[in-house]
Amino acid sequence: MANSSRAPGRSRRVRTAFAVSAAVGLLATAAAVVLPGSASAASTLGASAAERGRYFGTAVAVNRLNDSAYTSILNREFNQVTAENEMKIDALQPQQGQFNYGTADRLVQHARSQGMLVRGHTLAWHSQQPDWMRNMSGPTLRNAMLNHVTQVATHFRGQIEWWDVVNEAFEDGSSGARRDSNLQRTGDDWIEAAFRAARQADPNADLCYNDYNIDNWNDAKTQAVYRMVQDFKSRGVPIDCVGLQSHFTGGSNYPSNYRTTLSSFAALGVDVHITELDIRNAPSDAYRNVVNDCLAVARCKGITVWGIRDSDSWRSNESPLLFNGSGQKKPAYDAVLAALNNGTPPPTGDPTTPPPTGNPTTPPPGGGCTATVTPGQVWGDRYNTSVTVSGASTWSVVVEITPPQRISATWSGNPTWDSSGNVMTMRSNGSGNTFGFTTMMNGNSSARPQIRSCTAG
Ligand code: XIL
Repeated sequence: MANSSRAPGRSRRVRTAFAVSAAVGLLATAAAVVLPGSASAASTLGASAAERGRYFGTAVAVNRLNDSAYTSILNREFNQVTAENEMKIDALQPQQGQFNYGTADRLVQHARSQGMLVRGHTLAWHSQQPDWMRNMSGPTLRNAMLNHVTQVATHFRGQIEWWDVVNEAFEDGSSGARRDSNLQRTGDDWIEAAFRAARQADPNADLCYNDYNIDNWNDAKTQAVYRMVQDFKSRGVPIDCVGLQSHFTGGSNYPSNYRTTLSSFAALGVDVHITELDIRNAPSDAYRNVVNDCLAVARCKGITVWGIRDSDSWRSNESPLLFNGSGQKKPAYDAVLAALNNGTPPPTGDPTTPPPTGNPTTPPPGGGCTATVTPGQVWGDRYNTSVTVSGASTWSVVVEITPPQRISATWSGNPTWDSSGNVMTMRSNGSGNTFGFTTMMNGNSSARPQIRSCTAG
């Protein structure tokens, strides 16, 4: 199908206004300043990742949103969320045909209000199935699985940036075989059937295969998943990304060839995501290495840690996360933030040509303030822009971009969007008079944002 093939690095999707504005809300509160041509020192994980065209996210347990200590860290630091359990099959369809979206919707609402991107996890999996599904087999199970994929992807259409369509379908160890499960017993093609159903239900979401122990390039399991993705790409099965859970020392250590694994998957023409990162005892070195490896691979889109505080972790006895139980930053947090801030841009063609002269523009006077554009760093697929306002301490600046270019992240302002997603109104949020944003070129490398107005107040 036509929409299963696209140029590497170029978004197939026409994003919704929400998706365009995602990745921004928390960044808006972050005091990130982009200095043209130099590394900037953002003060939060999400803001720093966004300056490099990435996200930094976390798994969220929805009931913890009532815990203000938890939510304040979430809102401050992260610009992407994955439901830790609330979008799994047993949570969404506890009885056959009865869908329970309330809790998951609450997370999506929270993410939307904060401008966070949402990863959907997971449409098809051998684990955390409701009883009715666990007892099924054959064509009945295949149909029930496909119906679940279709219903759920349709319900969340337009709100999910990436779906983990299939989770953990391969066996550990040296066999390179599929994992035995009720779904696998419906036939080898269950995975591609799930991907096709997901694409049909939500053509705008990127579709990922997600697994653990696929971090070491030499492992049979990694090779087996690689061959499946290669096969899917060659046959036009709609797959856009691979997620590496990366639960280190939950069975495997951070491997020195991790970057090779990321870049090898990427070379197949899929994005890569680090989807569930946690590392036993949170060693700074391993966390730093993971960040550096992701930043070194242009198609590594971001990192999600599997929880915020150690006390939130599914492996809490291993203290594997970036914040301690009191919500304080651990040394690994500092290592991750520094690695992000020091991060070199991805290698593909970057930094490249400076933006054309005379464009971007300074708006016509008259609104009681002046907005001055400073072009920022340029990569192969995107560029940063910062805008400094003078003449007013509270303001709104209207910025228009040229499609198919899309703003993928902003910082240090409160953005809203028109329905086309091409016009952003950025309002001051008290973090200073300079805001910034990242624009994905999507194939148009010459257009630059136009400032339409600057209005005081
Ligand atoms: C875990 C959750 O963190 C736990 O709360 C739950 O009890 C079990 O599942 N791989 C995955 C995640 O894809 O969904 C798992 O999450 C961790 C391993």
